Parts: sequence; structure tokens; C-alpha cells
Amino acid sequence: SAAAEKAKARYPGEKKGFVEEMRFVAMKLHTKDQSKEGEKEADVQPIGQWQPTIEGYLKFLVDSKEVYDTMETIVQKAAHPSYELFRNTGLERSERLAKDLEWFASQGHAIPKAGVDGTTYAKYLTELSETDVPAFICHFYNVYFAHSAGGKFIGKKVAEMILDGRELEFYKWDGELSQLLGAVKENLNKVAEEWTRDEKNNCLKETENSFKYSGKILRLIAS
Ligand code: HEM
Repeated sequence: SAAAEKAKARYPGEKKGFVEEMRFVAMKLHTKDQSKEGEKEADVQPIGQWQPTIEGYLKFLVDSKEVYDTMETIVQKAAHPSYELFRNTGLERSERLAKDLEWFASQGHAIPKAGVDGTTYAKYLTELSETDVPAFICHFYNVYFAHSAGGKFIGKKVAEMILDGRELEFYKWDGELSQLLGAVKENLNKVAEEWTRDEKNNCLKETENSFKYSGKILRLIAS
């Protein structure tokens, strides 16, 4: 019956699979100026008013590398068998960030050490990956999918403003990005199918932390 169908789909996006549930929660956590789907009021410093500097952007890239190095080490080690599905997805960013930082160095820029935002998040991810699989998977989804969406758009804007439009390796993928994302989505859905509703809710709830940690790193761009 219609009522039974309704009772079945209590979580937005549930019918399309768990990734759609994670996406729904993530989109609502954007500010209104970040995305049409955002529901939060704009930050004190909305993105349209960011004044990026090379110095700040380098801090962002270095701290991002800290996070991607950690993510990519975690899935390689696979403390939990679920993580094995997320090896060699083609979404990895660590090596590309290393190349970008080499390029900045070759241009005479000093590459900073990883800052507190990057190292704090990396430490959190390492601990979470061992203690809470669904919560870690939430970060995995948000880190890689945010970069393929808003991250790409931010990168383009920053490049136009301070890099003469140079496209960094960070924003390039081998092969068709939508296909890489599609394959990862399938595996995320597969892993989540094993979870209880409580575990799923625990994963969704973690989205807020994901925004908190990544948001701090993003803001380094205009620091
Ligand atoms: C998607 C912008 C920060 C996670 C999007 C989309 C936009 C956007 C425009 C929609 C893409 C589309 O479906 O067409 C931004 C901007 C940000 C920002 C401007 C900051 C200035 C973040 C942060 C996170 C995040 C901090 C979480 C760590 C996501 C996710 C999606 C998304 C998971 C869905 C991607 C997909 O559908 O595959 N973002 N975003 N975003 N964003 Fe953000």
C-alpha cells in the first residue's frame, strides 16, 4: 500500500541507496551561498568575498595532503575489511598534491609544514578508522566527493585569481571523473547495506564533524 511504501522510505534518499542519504545530509549543511541546496546562513566570510593568497593556498594544499595521505594509508592498511573496496579508486589525491607542491617549490615558494588543522583532522581520522567504521566511511565519502564538486569549483576560482589560471594536478583525474565516482558510490552502497539502521544514523550524524574539520582546512585558502 501507499502507507507501507511511505513507512519504508523514512530517510530522505533511502530508496536510491545510502550514498543518497549521505548526500542529502551533506547538501543541507552547506551555506546558502555555497549551494542552492544549502540551508545554513552564509559564514562571516562568504566564499564570494574570499581573498585568496598563495601563502594561504599553500597552507590549504599542505593540510589537504595531510588528510589525503592519511585516508589513502588507512584504506591501504585496511584495519577493517570494508576499507579494501576503497583502494585504487582513481580518486586518490596524495601523489597529485605532491606534484603540485613540487611545482610551487620550483617557482620559488616556501612550502609550509602541515598546520594544526591538517594534523588534527588526520589524527582524528586514524583513530576513527579503527574504532567506528560507519563514521569513518562518512568522512571518506565527504572528503572525496566534496573535492569533486565544490572543491573543483573553488580551485578554478582561486586559479583565476592568483595562479594565472594554471590548473593544478589536484583537480585532474585519470579517466572520466563521473565514472570513478559512480564505482565508488556502488561500493559505498554495498558496504552500508551490511549496517543496522543505528549504524547508518551514526554515519549520517558524523557529516557535521566532516564539515567542521574540512571547513577549517578550506578556510586556510583565504588566511
Ligand atoms: C556538493 C559547493 C564545502 C561536501 C556541492 C555542490 C556545490 C558545493 C555547489 C553541488 C554539486 C552538484 O551536485 O552539482 C561547496 C562550496 C563549499 C563546499 C562552495 C565551501 C566553500 C563542502 C564541505 C563538504 C562538502 C566542507 C564536506 C566536507 C559536499 C558533498 C557534495 C557537495 C558530499 C555532494 C557531491 C555529489 O553529489 O557527488 N558542494 N561545498 N562541501 N559538497 Fe560541497
